[in-house]
This record gives sequence, structure tokens and C-alpha cells, in this order.
Amino acid sequence: MSSYAQEFARSISDRDGFWLDAAAAVDWVTPPTRALDDSAAPIYRWFPDAELNTSVNALDRHVAAGNGERIALIWDSAMVGEQRSFTYAELLDEVARFAGVLAGRGVGKGDRVIIYLPMIPEAAIAMLACARIGAVHSVVFGGFAAPELATRIDDAEPVALITASGGLEPGRTIEYLPIVAKAVELSAVAPSTIIVKDRPQVPGSAADHGWLDWDGLAAGAQPAGPTTVAATDPLYILYTSGTTGKPKGVVRDNGGHAVALAWSMRNVYDIGADDVWWTASDVGWVVGHSYIVYGPLLVGATTVMYEGKPVGTPDAGAFWRIIDEHKVNALFTAPTAIRAIRKVDPEAAELARYDVSSLRTLFAAGERLDPDTFHWAGRVLGVPVVDHWWQTETGWSIVANLRGLEPMPIKAGSPTVPVPGYDVKVVDAQGAELSATEEGNIVVSLPLPPGTLAGLWRDEARYRDSYLSAFPGFYLTGDSGYIDADGYVVVLGRSDDVINVAGHRLSTGSIEAVVATHPAVAECAVVGIADDLKGQRPSGYVVLKAGVDIDPDTLRSELVATVREEIGAVATFRDVTVVAALPKTRSGKILRKTMRQIVDGEQYTVPSTIEDPAVLDALAQQLAPQR
Ligand code: COA
Ligand code: AMP
Repeated sequence: MSSYAQEFARSISDRDGFWLDAAAAVDWVTPPTRALDDSAAPIYRWFPDAELNTSVNALDRHVAAGNGERIALIWDSAMVGEQRSFTYAELLDEVARFAGVLAGRGVGKGDRVIIYLPMIPEAAIAMLACARIGAVHSVVFGGFAAPELATRIDDAEPVALITASGGLEPGRTIEYLPIVAKAVELSAVAPSTIIVKDRPQVPGSAADHGWLDWDGLAAGAQPAGPTTVAATDPLYILYTSGTTGKPKGVVRDNGGHAVALAWSMRNVYDIGADDVWWTASDVGWVVGHSYIVYGPLLVGATTVMYEGKPVGTPDAGAFWRIIDEHKVNALFTAPTAIRAIRKVDPEAAELARYDVSSLRTLFAAGERLDPDTFHWAGRVLGVPVVDHWWQTETGWSIVANLRGLEPMPIKAGSPTVPVPGYDVKVVDAQGAELSATEEGNIVVSLPLPPGTLAGLWRDEARYRDSYLSAFPGFYLTGDSGYIDADGYVVVLGRSDDVINVAGHRLSTGSIEAVVATHPAVAECAVVGIADDLKGQRPSGYVVLKAGVDIDPDTLRSELVATVREEIGAVATFRDVTVVAALPKTRSGKILRKTMRQIVDGEQYTVPSTIEDPAVLDALAQQLAPQR
């Protein structure tokens, strides 16, 4: 039996043994004697009798082992043309002092702290400082507007909020402080402490708002020691898009998270203490949590944090420059980023300017890796291009080609095989398991492995309803696909109203909710249509109120501006089409999937439940010629 097959089989038949062995990679205050607690199934907990501190595992223990002088974090900003490196000893010092700042403001175990920061080292420092004192961080992506930040503040009820004067996007600065001020005004619960990291490039400072200045506080702070927490205590909440307008607060624990991420660094990515690892994402997404901050530091590797874009900062050689300058061994990015580079530099001519020989592997996730992009990246870089599939909820790979355990032949279009711990199945609408190559809902038999979501923040009912109730005994991933005859999983896309734009997960429901507030709009539907660069993009279809006469361009620019103000630039909402009516089922459900198929020029079948086939025919006539 191959090592993958053996490990996979053991992870299912001897869960406790498998994960207790993996737990040996973590330094515990109280080591676990049991792995799985299934006493409240289908709600599971991992390592119920263990205690630890995550920041100790990410920092202190490497320093204690004599590796304090190794580089922990390299920050490279193409936006300000600066680089900074932190050794493990230096990062520990920064984290302990900022933890002291938070503790000095009364932030303690279990308290929530919102982190709204751009890609600067302080983002990682703030996260690890929260972990150090047992506080629960919730990072909000900088591309979200004030109302989205306010929604997260209301749900998490933070005692503190950590921000910066702003972020830098090509050609413009994003001033964070007015956004934070507006969010605080909009929210029902205001955090009592707001700390601002001043960036000289962006106007605005803590003093303008009567808030606290990061640098001033950190300079005089006493370092805080680690607080011991239960393995089952929450480390963070990360909000992600669901099918409704209200984001889901995915809760991650401390113990299972540390065990799973350490296991994944070695077995999925083949990365250890001597390696330089770079995840080109943002700390605001799960990819940034797991693989910019926690994963690489847990195994003592060097992690690169990049503030910039794949193209335009300043050119399509930006990624190759970073690989060369920091001797990166493995890069993890979203396929969109590769497509963006290819679009600007189709023959990768920029590569000739750099030495990228340190690179062993290119990992891709966040959206489907299309075969074209896969082949192109493999050809120009000459290294394996490895797709893997996972989601905010799981926090680490569900399906992957396990480079450290047993690299397998790569098939374009498939992220390869289920990772140990994930018993992946494909079921039909009734929950019956489908045979090889039959397309259906991708589910995972419960329990999910360690490191996956412990639930949704203070909303067990929604957790059960969203993930556990569709097919009892299984976790619903929300993706559809199939497993081929060799056991390779193919992920075809979401089966719900979640869309994926440039590797960013968005809810069409939340965009619809904003579009529907326009006084001219009677009804609307937002669907994710195919986009060559970004994978998908939201496209809005609106029915005007009777008697309304509005210029379509005016309507479009008003809707685009409103979505930007309410959700943020990240929504990338630009397309608006006025239609006579929306196709619906007899029970009133809008046929979004059929609309998407029409716009994408795909074959579609007219659902038998349709209310009025003539509406669909008219829409097909109007929309199909657009392509
Ligand atoms: N703060 C504020 N605004 C932000 C932002 C941030 N952190 N990130 C993106 N935005 C803005 C962009 O400036 C853009 O604004 P615009 O409409 O005024 O141009 C808008 O949000 C859309 O951003 P995006 O979809 O990212 O497009 P882009 O043109 O800026 O960049 C790519 C395109 C492909 C280069 C970029 O999407 C990319 O690198 N994607 C990789 C995806 C990724 O890291 N995913 C994480 C999961 S792995
Ligand atoms: P997020 O929670 O933002 O990480 O988004 C998760 C969703 O992105 C998944 O449910 C998939 O729809 C999609 N996704 C992520 N990685 C992949 C991949 N490798 N292949 C196909 N889809 C992916």
C-alpha cells in the first residue's frame, strides 16, 4: 500500500491514533490524552483535555530551541518600495510587547479584537498578540466598506479594534480611519479601544479621532507572557460569504488548528524549518490566516508577506522578483494572479530578468485552476503546479496532491485526492452516494478533521442548518463535482449562490440586497458569470418599477457606486442589465443558475418547475447575443 493510501486509511479507521500522533508536532501545556470528543455529535471537538498557546508554538518554542536568529517574516512592499525582515526573536519581541499593550487595555482571554489592517507586518503581529493573551481575533479584509465592517463589529462584539491609517492600491490610497469611524457609528456596539498604526503614506492619525497610536503604545509596553488556553478555545473568527447577505462567522479553535496546520505544512506542502514560503494572498482571507501567518511559523519556516499585486507593481515580473530576492522555495497563490501575469506577459519574458531556481513548487487554490493556466505556469516555471481545494470553513486542504507525503501524478483540472482526515463523497439531491464520474454535491463524512470550523460564532442553529442538515452525517461543502475512476476529485463550482471573483468569495445575495434598495429597482438577480481574468464576476439583472424612466447608464453608475459604498471595491460590481422580467419557479425562486448558463452560452434545460417559460425565452433572446 502506498504511504498516501495507508495514511488515509488510518486517518479514517483510527482517527484518535492518527491525530494524537500528529499532535506530537505541537508543544502543549497539557498534552492531549484523547483526540476526538464526539459526545455532542454532530458537533465535534478536538483534543478536549489539552491546553496550549498558539503564539508559543509559532514563536517562543523556535527561540527556545536556539533558532531565534532565523528569519521568521520577510515583509516586501511593492507599494512603498520597502522590505523588512524579522528574526523569530524579533517577531516574538514585537508580538509580546503588543500583547502587553492589549493586556494593558484590559483585553483578555475570550475577548474579541477586530483587526482591519493592510498587508503590513503589524497585521501578523496583532493576530499573534491576540493569540498570546487568549483573545479571539477577527480580521476584516481591507477591501470591505464601512457597513461590512460594522456588520462584523455587531456580530463579534469586540472590545478592541486595530487598524492603520490606510492601505495602498495601485494609483490610490485607501484611508481606513474614515471607514472605521463610519463603521463604529453604524454599529450598535463600539469597541472601547481603537489602536491605529500610522503609515506615513496615508493621511490621518489616531489623534484626529481621539484613538490610540500603535507606535506610542508599543514603545513603552511591557511584554506579555502567554496565556494558556484550552485546545477547544477559539483562536479566531473569520467572516465569510454565505448565501444570504449576513456573513458567516467561522470559528477556529486553538489546538486542532495548530495540529492540522503543522501537519499540512509537512505533508501537503513539503515545507519545514529550512524553507522560505510565500503565500501571495491577504491576511483578510483564510489563505492568509493559515498560510501567511500560522502554518509557516508553526513549523519554523520563513514566511514572506507581500504588499502589492502580481502585475502593475511595477510590472508582470513582480512575483519573479520576490522569488529571486528572497529565495522562495514554494509559492502559493490564486490562479487569477497567474492569469493576470500571463495576460500582460504571455511568454513570461520578465522571467529572464530573475533567477527563480530556488522555486520547487507552485501551489494554487482559492478557485478552480483551469487547465490552460495550469499548463502555462508549468511550462514557463518548469516546476510542478499543484492545485488544492479547500475553503474558509475547513481552514486547510480537503483535496490535494500531498507533496510531502507522496507526490502523485497531476491531472490538469483536478486537485488530486482527499487529504487524510477528509472522507470525501459525492451524493445526489437525495443524499445517495454517486458512482465514479457522476456529478453531484461534494460532502465530507462527519467528523471533519482537526483545524476545521468548530461552528459559527454564537449561531449553532445556522451552523447546523448551513452545513449539517442537508445530508445527515455529512458536512456540505457547497461545491459540486465528481470523483473519477482513479479516485481523483474534480471540483466544478459552487452549487449555491456564492461566487468566486479573483479568488475572493462573495455572496450574490448580499449584492442583490444592496441593488434592491435603489428606488428604481422592483426586482433584481445577481449571478456570477464567467470572466477570463477573474474566473467569475457578478452581473446584475434588474426589473424596473412600473412607470420608472431612467437612463440605463445612470442606473448602472448609481448601482455600481452604491455597491462599492455598501460592500466595497472588492465586490467588483460593474455589469447591470435592465430586463423585462426575471425567470422564476412556480414557488417564486429566481432561476439564477439558468440565467448564468444563458449568459455563459452553456446548454441549459428549462426547469419543469418554471412559472412562465416565455420569460426565459425572452431573456435568452436578450442576453445570449451579449457573448
Ligand atoms: N483594500 C482596498 N481595496 C482593495 C483591496 C484592499 N485590500 N484589494 C482589492 N481592492 C480593490 C481593488 O483596488 C479594485 O478596485 P477598483 O475597482 O477601483 O479597481 C477592486 O478592489 C477589485 O480588486 P481585484 O478583484 O483584486 O482586482 P484588481 O484589478 O485590483 O487585481 C488581480 C486583480 C488578479 C491582480 C488580483 O485580484 C489578485 O492578485 N488576485 C489574487 C487573489 C487572491 O489573493 N486571493 C486570495 C485567496 S487565495
Ligand atoms: P474561500 O472560503 O474564500 O476559500 O472559498 C472557498 C471556495 O472557493 C470553495 O468552496 C470553492 O468553490 C472555491 N475553491 C477554492 N479552491 C478551489 C480549487 N482548488 N478548485 C476549485 N474551487 C476552489
